[in-house]
Amino acid sequence: MLKKVIPAGVVAVLTANLLSGFQKADAAKGKELFEQCGVCHNADSTEKKMGPGLKGLYKKGKLTNGKPVNDANVKAVLNAGGNGMPAYESILSEEEKAHVLAYLKTL
Ligand code: HEC
Repeated sequence: MLKKVIPAGVVAVLTANLLSGFQKADAAKGKELFEQCGVCHNADSTEKKMGPGLKGLYKKGKLTNGKPVNDANVKAVLNAGGNGMPAYESILSEEEKAHVLAYLKTL
């Protein structure tokens, strides 16, 4: 079992993001929306399915593309897709993407 400690600074930044832009973000709704992602992504492990397992995504520091894990960069991955991942730019609304991000943070 991998246990990682979340640095306080990261929590502060995430909280600030939450307060500024995502008041309506709802992790429970994000979980429902994640059902369509679950075909390709494990939520309860880092084991690869079609795409990487997303457990601890916001705690691991960097995305596969080398960019730091934050709302802007994760949303950019969702919007653009690529390498086997569908582009969610127009599949999910901005509000739905905020819900999904809120859910991903709980993993
Ligand atoms: C058809 C399969 C598929 C579906 C459906 C899918 N993904 Fe992906 N996803 C992938 C693949 C494959 C990658 C790896 C792409 C790469 O390596 O560039 C990926 C990458 C990612 C990453 C980047 C992970 C990292 O560590 O860099 C995130 C975040 C992500 N997906 C979230 C989602 C979310 C949220 C959904 C649902 C809204 C979703 N994906 C739906 C296949 C999928």
